[in-house]
Amino acid sequence: MDQLIYINGQWTGASLDKIPVHNPATSQIIGTVPKAGKKETRDAIDAAHSAFTSWSRLTAYERSEYLEKYYHLIIDNVNEIASILTLEMGKPLAEAKGEVRYAASFIKWFAEEGKRVYGRTIPSHVDGKEMLVLKAPVGVVAAITPWNFPAAMITRKMGPALAAGCTIVLKPAKQTPLTAIMLVKLAEQAGIPKGVVNLVTGNAAEIGGEFLSNPKVRKVTFTGSTEIGKELMIQAAQHVKNLSLELGGHAPILILDDADVDKAVKSVIASKFRNGGQTCICGNRVYVQEGIYIQFLEKLINETQQLKVGNGMDEGVDIGPLIDKNGFLKVDEHVHNATRLGAKCWVGGRRIEVQEDAYYYAPTVLSDVTQEMLIMNEETFGPVLPIQKVSTVEEAIAYANLTPYGLAAYVFTESHSLGMKVIHQLDFGIIGWNDGLPSAAQAPFGGMKESGLGREGGIEGLEAFLETKYVSIGL
Ligand code: SIN
Repeated sequence: MDQLIYINGQWTGASLDKIPVHNPATSQIIGTVPKAGKKETRDAIDAAHSAFTSWSRLTAYERSEYLEKYYHLIIDNVNEIASILTLEMGKPLAEAKGEVRYAASFIKWFAEEGKRVYGRTIPSHVDGKEMLVLKAPVGVVAAITPWNFPAAMITRKMGPALAAGCTIVLKPAKQTPLTAIMLVKLAEQAGIPKGVVNLVTGNAAEIGGEFLSNPKVRKVTFTGSTEIGKELMIQAAQHVKNLSLELGGHAPILILDDADVDKAVKSVIASKFRNGGQTCICGNRVYVQEGIYIQFLEKLINETQQLKVGNGMDEGVDIGPLIDKNGFLKVDEHVHNATRLGAKCWVGGRRIEVQEDAYYYAPTVLSDVTQEMLIMNEETFGPVLPIQKVSTVEEAIAYANLTPYGLAAYVFTESHSLGMKVIHQLDFGIIGWNDGLPSAAQAPFGGMKESGLGREGGIEGLEAFLETKYVSIGL
């Protein structure tokens, strides 16, 4: 599959150098994409800029109709998109189908919500004056998306951007451009006018550099590491560009003495091992109160042992390969550092060697973990659950907040008043209370502290693509 980039309604870039796309389950090359750079990115921005006037002047109802059509095309093609997604990213096929439906839900929800962009009138303090607040689309949006959710992270940006009246240039992750290309082909089939959606693949530094320096781009929306997010902030400062950043996490899970153990174990497994632990909001460290510690640990080990690792295209697989060697090296370093410093490894703790260049890692449970270990301080992005015993709820909260990250946190307690007290003290943008899977199109997603700026999803996700225009009218 040699694919092309999409600029101003044309599939182009055949003469550019090609970048291979690998299947992480087998290390085989499954396709190529063009290595675009500054010039193609500028062309794509110009196309988005030209299309902005007509797209932004359509009524919200007209834009909604395009998005509804697009939503149905994604749903009609779930199986095909999911197969591409599994082949280039590795997650199990059933999970990939779930991601594609989740991706479609953003298009559907914002198709509806785009009709509810309201301004307001403000009572004047003097006679003979009217004060209005209007909402306007930000303008051309550049979106940089990650490999771990190759479909949903595109639509979570594209849905609200298009609904608000913005046009967009997408740059998918180098590991997973094929899902993005398929999604853009469906946008084309939905009849979304030329220039409204554009896609470039290739040299990340050149593409990103053009996004940040080109004055026609009014907003950059990025999902990825905190390190790159900080770099983008510095570059965005030159033009005071509107930025949304969805960055790293290091989610704590608090299991309190009165938790329902079965519910907690099921949710912790779902949170941690979904996508093989390669999810920004997945639980990264678990603090268990001593009254429930043994019971929780035993059940967790037992459930983890049932999980099947393998090629995501095979039936019954729960965990696919890690994305690449760097991903594996980080997981391996965290596990070795923890065991060297005294953690006990009950299950997993090793790579499963299927073949040289594919990196499968056994789901792992570590106990007797302590705060000085690397794994309690950094995002692991792999299938490893480190468990630390704590005596009190206060101790669990203090450990939970002991991080520069603030994306997601989880708490398990059956007590309503205790649960409310805990959630008020957790410094995180998303909190799952007795719930390991909090994400939804209609809910705000994003973090505090070094986990990012702004929110995606929900009404906040639409607001992120709107400017506020205040008008004062002398009568
Ligand atoms: C992410 O890893 O940022 C996406 C997870 C989600 O949307 O639930």
